[in-house]
Amino acid sequence: MKALLFAQYGDPNVLTVGDVPEPHAGPGEIRIAVRAAGVSPGDDAIRSGAWRDRVPLALPYVVGLDAAGVVDEVGDGVHGVRVGDEVFGLRFRGNTTAEYAVLDAWAHKPGNMRWPQAGGAATGIETAVRALDVLGVHSGTTLLLDGAGGGVGAVARGARVIGTASTPNHPFLEELGAIPIEYGPGLPERIQRVTGHPVDSAVDIAGRGSVEELVRITGDANAVLTLVNPAAENQGVRLLRFDPAADNSAALEYGAELVAAGRLAVHVAHAYPMDEGPAAHTRVASRHTRGKIVITVP
Ligand SMILES: NC(=O)c1ccc[n+]([C@@H]2O[C@H](COP(=O)([O-])OP(=O)(O)OC[C@H]3O[C@@H](n4cnc5c(N)ncnc54)[C@H](OP(=O)(O)O)[C@@H]3O)[C@@H](O)[C@H]2O)c1
Repeated sequence: MKALLFAQYGDPNVLTVGDVPEPHAGPGEIRIAVRAAGVSPGDDAIRSGAWRDRVPLALPYVVGLDAAGVVDEVGDGVHGVRVGDEVFGLRFRGNTTAEYAVLDAWAHKPGNMRWPQAGGAATGIETAVRALDVLGVHSGTTLLLDGAGGGVGAVARGARVIGTASTPNHPFLEELGAIPIEYGPGLPERIQRVTGHPVDSAVDIAGRGSVEELVRITGDANAVLTLVNPAAENQGVRLLRFDPAADNSAALEYGAELVAAGRLAVHVAHAYPMDEGPAAHTRVASRHTRGKIVITVP
């Protein structure tokens, strides 16, 4: 089958479309005929070699951590999904940007979600739900997202959301229902001036050194979560860790319900065909993506 892969670490130009053997669904897994796959900052880190020690790989390696498509194999012990169902989901070890991909966690694709949106939905939804759970975010609280314009930003559970982004992305955040504010030094004073709201919890999504200010804003290191910066744990801030043993499908099903109800939309900044994989990775590596970048298959 055709897949987007790299045989050596490096810049996005190491990506090529090549032929690899088809994968098959093992126990607890499903296989899909892929229609679209997401490109995440994690894919960029894997391809560049930045995570070489953390995630040892056998090369060549097929990129992609999430995808959407039509189920064509159902592994032993899997219930609630059948061949022919349309789903989106995650593959923890990657390999989703190909004609066929195996998924570890999935949800049915809502009818109002198009393939590109579904292909790029799973990592952002799963991360956002996990972050909201860890922080105990609920209706009536105020949540600050530092770096809200990318793939992980979230407005849900009735929380008031303040999101940081550069000025051109403020209308985008407003459309999502968040109060936009400029990122960078002086954030506590800006929030006080612009919103006047006390902030109950905060998420460091962008990982650009704001953790100290986020602790000042919430007044409690335990109310701050970082997605990116392990060093922040020295200040009592929690690092969001992925747990493959958790019920990750439940998070995706929750996201799918929000999408079906019109309460969550996955914004796709650009959809590239597979042979433009280097351009897709270059765009994600810029770290100024608005929403998600996806690759459509075939
Ligand atoms: N821990 C976990 O389990 C986990 C899971 C998923 C993702 N992650 C990590 O989460 C991070 C975010 O991912 P993402 O998909 O949202 O994409 P991303 O490409 O990192 O986010 C892009 C957004 O960051 C904003 N940004 C750029 N510079 C900033 C700054 N100095 N301060 C605040 N915001 C800034 C950009 O806004 P402008 O364009 O407006 O400048 C853009 O909207 C990645 O590093 C990823 O690896 C962690």
